Amino acid sequence: MNARLQAIANLITKNTVVADIGTDHAYLPIDLILSGRISRAIASDIGKGPLATARANVTAHGLTEQIALRLGSGLAPYQLEEVDIFVIAGMGGHTIAEILAEDVAKARAARYLILQPMQNRPFLRQYLYDNAYRIDSEVIAQEGSKYYHILKVVAQSAQKPSKFDLTFGVNVVKDDNYYSYLEHSIQQKNKLADQLKSAGKTAEYKRLVDQIEQLKGALNVRNR
Ligand SMILES: C[S@@+](CC[C@H](N)C(=O)[O-])C[C@H]1O[C@@H](n2cnc3c(N)ncnc32)[C@H](O)[C@@H]1O
Repeated sequence: MNARLQAIANLITKNTVVADIGTDHAYLPIDLILSGRISRAIASDIGKGPLATARANVTAHGLTEQIALRLGSGLAPYQLEEVDIFVIAGMGGHTIAEILAEDVAKARAARYLILQPMQNRPFLRQYLYDNAYRIDSEVIAQEGSKYYHILKVVAQSAQKPSKFDLTFGVNVVKDDNYYSYLEHSIQQKNKLADQLKSAGKTAEYKRLVDQIEQLKGALNVRNR
């Protein structure tokens, strides 16, 4: 498994019933069972093609008794209180929020949710705060120059996150990946700031410079 899926697997409590929404290849539930972390999982996908891939992989590993496969969108294929943990990974932040909004009772009945948005992370964090979810922690997985934020979320209201946290992460685990992510973000934003300056977009440039200063401040905490 890649670093992203491994980081998700590490957040799964032992002996829970896990549902993997949008499972595609089913690598996550297969690994969770093979590693002995859990003994039963349900994997679902909206697409017949991905579900066929999942079925082929589950069968190849001899895990058809342990991993149930279901076709359907979001939480629709699940009963209320059927699972302990919903994992929704590898989709955009809007899609993840839509999935949660379509089946509020089921989502809130889980012990916790593991969400891994590929894009629109600030939107998803705002959605979670607005809808009385608390981001218990965020872990960052790194694969080359790519950084993936993995959110562990519980159905409890939370203190309003700062704008910086909504943008860069709430309750992030401050490990090497986090500081590497901050350095990477500063580099990216410096490039963009140069472009804005050359284009004479002064207001946008100043906003970005403020953000870069905040990122540098967060990075300095490690260097103290
Ligand atoms: C990029 S794959 C991610 C696979 C895996 N979860 C991972 O993180 O590696 C996204 C999968 O989500 C599925 N998907 C997209 N929208 C969905 C929805 N509303 N409900 C269930 N599955 C969905 C797609 O069919 C696709 O198989």
